[in-house]
Amino acid sequence: MPLRLLSPVELGPYTLANRTVMAPLTRSRATSEGIPTALIAEHYRQRASAGLIVSEATLIAPQGRGTPDTPGLWSDEQVRAWRPATEAVHAEGGRIFAQLWHVGRQSHPELQPAGEDPVAPSAIQATGQVRTPSGVTDFAPPRALAAEEIPGVIADYGRAAARAMEAGFDGVELHAANGYLIDQFLQDGANTRQDGYGGPIENRARFLFEALEALIAACGADRVGIRLSPHNVHGGIFDSDPWALHEHVARGLSGRGLAYMHVIEPRTLPGGRHREDEAANAAPRLRPLFDGIYIAAGGFGREGAEEILAQGHADMVAFGRSFIANPDLPRRFAEDLPLNPYDRKTFYTPGPVGYTDYPTWDEAQAAAG
Ligand code: FNR
Repeated sequence: MPLRLLSPVELGPYTLANRTVMAPLTRSRATSEGIPTALIAEHYRQRASAGLIVSEATLIAPQGRGTPDTPGLWSDEQVRAWRPATEAVHAEGGRIFAQLWHVGRQSHPELQPAGEDPVAPSAIQATGQVRTPSGVTDFAPPRALAAEEIPGVIADYGRAAARAMEAGFDGVELHAANGYLIDQFLQDGANTRQDGYGGPIENRARFLFEALEALIAACGADRVGIRLSPHNVHGGIFDSDPWALHEHVARGLSGRGLAYMHVIEPRTLPGGRHREDEAANAAPRLRPLFDGIYIAAGGFGREGAEEILAQGHADMVAFGRSFIANPDLPRRFAEDLPLNPYDRKTFYTPGPVGYTDYPTWDEAQAAAG
């Protein structure tokens, strides 16, 4: 029987060839100034048989940086340097959205313009460590954004979205997951503001919806998606009532004509860590609250993806680590071929090794003679 995963699907103005999504994957192959490289274009070209590629998290402004060598979308030079990537994906018949990113407190002065402190909703330090050009160190204490600064950050989101369209992306994904700036506003463990952006859930979600509206104004709602991660613990983020929070957000995302809502299942976290105490699936809870395409991510393989599509809990499934290691992942699913294993050591190292040198099935067979 043909796989549901490989059937076409309508998403915004596009008819996608299949229901596989290449998950956003930070790989640190841009320059230190945030300029995409030719290697990045080649990496996405190789993976263009995904129904949809979501780009690696891409900075809206220099202040959003929390990882070295990550690309941005604030300058003409970055727009020019992204074009070979979007053109390569289109030439192969694929589609690519840009994931728009601001890390907030998950940063360090070494990664910030003029060595300033990172910004966050509140002056609450992230727990854990950050890679800086001079080594791995603790996240730095952030300063709280003043209310007057918030419109400027929202405007950065809108400008980056407009830049993404100029660069040839098919749309944008608002990165509201994984304990970064928007998630910091959402979750009460990181947001103790006393103004209209803190306190009750409606207030904590205000920043998210303002950023979303900036993206919609730049791209049109049907070219805007969003990524959420209920129960993620990245950087020590937590909320006293995460389901109530995310249910509020999912409801609020409905009725806007968005391209999609993309949700990471709590069972798997970046880096392969697992939360011991949370087995529930986000999709059955959140999908009924949202009126558009639902993308499920996190720990899926061929069978799990077919199952969630058959259950009707998702419309598309995103794959992270298996797309890193298998440029021809949809074909491997179609023919039930074995997958290349991924190499964690090369996730964030410079150069082509572990990035553009994973073979397709045909290349591996040819090499084996
Ligand atoms: C990630 N993930 C991630 N998520 C995100 O929203 N933006 C990003 O830039 C990244 N970067 C990133 C880099 C690397 C090397 C890994 C392994 C993961 C999370 C990713 O999109 C996905 O949600 C997880 O990998 C879980 O899915 P899989 O790998 O189990 O299919």
